[in-house]
Amino acid sequence: MKKITVTSPLLPPLEELTPYLEDIWSRKWLTNSGYYHQQLEYELCKYLDVPYISLFSNGTLALITALQALELKGEVITTPYSFVATSHAIKWNNLKPVFIDIDPNTFNIDTNKIEEAITANTCAILPVHVYGNPCDHDAIQAIADKHNLKVIYDAAHAFGVRKNGQSILNMGDLSILSFHATKTYSTIEGGAIVCDSLEMKEKLDHLKNFGFESEAEISTCGMNSKLNEVQAAFGLASLKYISDAIKKREKVAEHYYERLKNISGITAFEVESHIDFNYSYFPILIDESTFGVSRDRLFEELKENNVLARRYFFPLITDFSAYKDYNKGKFVHSEKISKSVICLPIHHEITHNQVKEIVRIIQECRK
Ligand SMILES: Cc1ncc(COP(=O)(O)O)c(C=O)c1O
Repeated sequence: MKKITVTSPLLPPLEELTPYLEDIWSRKWLTNSGYYHQQLEYELCKYLDVPYISLFSNGTLALITALQALELKGEVITTPYSFVATSHAIKWNNLKPVFIDIDPNTFNIDTNKIEEAITANTCAILPVHVYGNPCDHDAIQAIADKHNLKVIYDAAHAFGVRKNGQSILNMGDLSILSFHATKTYSTIEGGAIVCDSLEMKEKLDHLKNFGFESEAEISTCGMNSKLNEVQAAFGLASLKYISDAIKKREKVAEHYYERLKNISGITAFEVESHIDFNYSYFPILIDESTFGVSRDRLFEELKENNVLARRYFFPLITDFSAYKDYNKGKFVHSEKISKSVICLPIHHEITHNQVKEIVRIIQECRK
């Protein structure tokens, strides 16, 4: 069987990208907030229904800059169940990550555990909308308001997700997106910060360009994390196809739900009906005692059959040696889920037959 990868990049038709490239070639303006960079910021604000966006060369630099822009000092409460960039961004700002466990039903930070982790040094909460599933923002914001904390959402997975018709990217002080090639919407590498004021947007724009406020003034120690014109053009050309790609992902998810529902020992993660989801991942949990085979055996079996699933997130951030000094306390749910999760292939090109074949391999694995 042909290899089925866990994801596949959304590529605009080459002939639609070419005119952008010809125009860039004739303008000879390749980066530094060029024409297509500005256009992509404008189009993304419209598509995502957010007031301001600042584009970045990747999601990690967007996260690092978001924390920097808020001028934080001290401790940041976050989750061990994420991609390591979430906590790396905290450490790159000389802040201390304080990890708390997740809610086993949503895989997001357990809002009941936030308050007990707050100390006199806490300055912010950095939750992750895991797999694009919205965090309990009302609970998080109530705690943040009570303790005067900033809230920065790692929304790397949450492109286009809405709750009760509202973009979840408007929650908190800042939200960051990743446009990495493995994400639902991509600029090959890329990322963005969503903010709600022009003042903050300008601050972020300065920070991603060495701190330049004008040709003659640098007031902060900025970075170079700009998105170039070629990638911005790629983003514009593919933006036309994103809604269709998400619909195709939804269909793939429906096929999985239908075929997996009667397999004991497998729980597919389902989103609530008031969420407009992007189906960026298709996580399932394997309960070895009922399924009869371990998660890792299933993972290998899929691989041997050319199905490249992903154990995501595994290991937990707190299990990496870079975080051994921060592994305080027990993360019961995070540990359990990390050891039982597999993200099955999902993208806009997966066919009904491929889903059928993947589920057949899962079923065969038990025999
Ligand atoms: C939850 C999360 N945060 C942050 C990032 C970092 O984004 P990027 O790869 O664009 O730097 C990722 C990327 O995989 C992610 O999954």
